[in-house]
Amino acid sequence: MVQIGAPALGEDFHDRTRELETLKKRILSTSILLTAPRRFGKTSLLRKFEKQMKEERYNVIYLDVMHVYSPERFVHELALAAYDEASIRDKFLQNIKEIFKKLAGALNIEGSVPGASIKLELSRILESEVNEKTWQDHGREIIKSITASSEKTPVIIILDELPEAVANMSREDRDALGFLQWFRSIRQSIDNIRFIVAGSTSFENVVKSISKRGSYINDLHRIDLSGFSYDDAMEFLKKAFKDEELPFSEDVGRRILELVGEPYVPYFLAVFVGLISEELREVSEPDAILNSLEELYWSKLLGNEGSRYFQDYWDRLRIYYSEYLTPVREILNEASKSDEGIRVDTAKEIFIKYTELSSEEVNDKFNVIIKDLENDFYLQRRGEYLVFQSKLMKDWWRLNHG
Ligand SMILES: Nc1ncnc2c1ncn2[C@@H]1O[C@H](COP(=O)(O)OP(=O)(O)OP(=O)(O)O)[C@@H](O)[C@H]1O
Ligand SMILES: [Mg+2]
Repeated sequence: MVQIGAPALGEDFHDRTRELETLKKRILSTSILLTAPRRFGKTSLLRKFEKQMKEERYNVIYLDVMHVYSPERFVHELALAAYDEASIRDKFLQNIKEIFKKLAGALNIEGSVPGASIKLELSRILESEVNEKTWQDHGREIIKSITASSEKTPVIIILDELPEAVANMSREDRDALGFLQWFRSIRQSIDNIRFIVAGSTSFENVVKSISKRGSYINDLHRIDLSGFSYDDAMEFLKKAFKDEELPFSEDVGRRILELVGEPYVPYFLAVFVGLISEELREVSEPDAILNSLEELYWSKLLGNEGSRYFQDYWDRLRIYYSEYLTPVREILNEASKSDEGIRVDTAKEIFIKYTELSSEEVNDKFNVIIKDLENDFYLQRRGEYLVFQSKLMKDWWRLNHG
């Protein structure tokens, strides 16, 4: 079965050999920022990387922090994730007993206490001990305990959706700036630890909005994840058709890639194959599939049935751009009308028409919004123009929102 929505793991994971090699080469010397628009396959890639590194006996801690909204909670979740790592668990517990004396008491009755209860106890202690005043010191100690528990170094900590977490902290008026400072000082002062930060929202933007300067993350080595290459996309389709027991031909593959357009985002390829499989279950000839593709693309993938797959993209506009939704929609409408897109100047005029910001603020805000639209897989800058990043997104917008 092709995997649609959840990260592609195990057998479902396709290729990305180059990216895995780059990650591996870099991570031994520096922490990394992995960025891509939504749904490009960041999580799938990172889980694969985690698995590969573990096979080489590195300790890797994977943590999705999408719903973390305070530095305290971050430290709490990190400690629990470290506990979940069976290969370092025992040593880690021993090490943090020094920090949380209460834990020592709970562990003394170890043996009679099943693992799940220890975890609950740990969580309870973290809840009461890690607070607004203590999270910095406790966080540092916990990270030191993690590295001290590992035989092979560096220890790799993957923080999926960290930009989202920092944005949450800022929105909730928690100490987002303190967190950025702390996180930087951890990277600078603790040896043998590497982080991979991944997220869709531009981290630079989030950081700038908090501190007015981006220097809190300029030590991270940035890797931009793109879509599949043409050949990889073709291979992906071939395999997906086989998994779904659908007849495949090069022409079918070529036509799908033409309809969807570059960049070949694995998610949309998977969605398209899923729909083909639903609609054309009984078909046995590739040509019959070929003849139905255009119709399926417009009426199913971009139509009602497909709408749930675009929901995330639409939700982000509604939620994150709410204040500026009217000008953003108008800009997208104009951009979707032609392949050249819309002139940056014209887009800015549209933006100004709907806002009451001072001329100084207008520029800043406009630039942030354009950057966000890039991150959310809508537009990209090409010279003096803003164009849709993908034919698929352009077609979808024109059909449903234009
Ligand atoms: N390497 C891959 N092999 C096969 N399918 C993939 C691959 N990468 C991504 N996909 C497809 O794309 C979908 C989204 O992947 P994933 O969740 O890894 O992306 P993401 O960039 O982490 O998304 P989000 O921005 O929502 O966190 C998966 O459900 C799967 O259908
Ligand atoms: Mg993800």
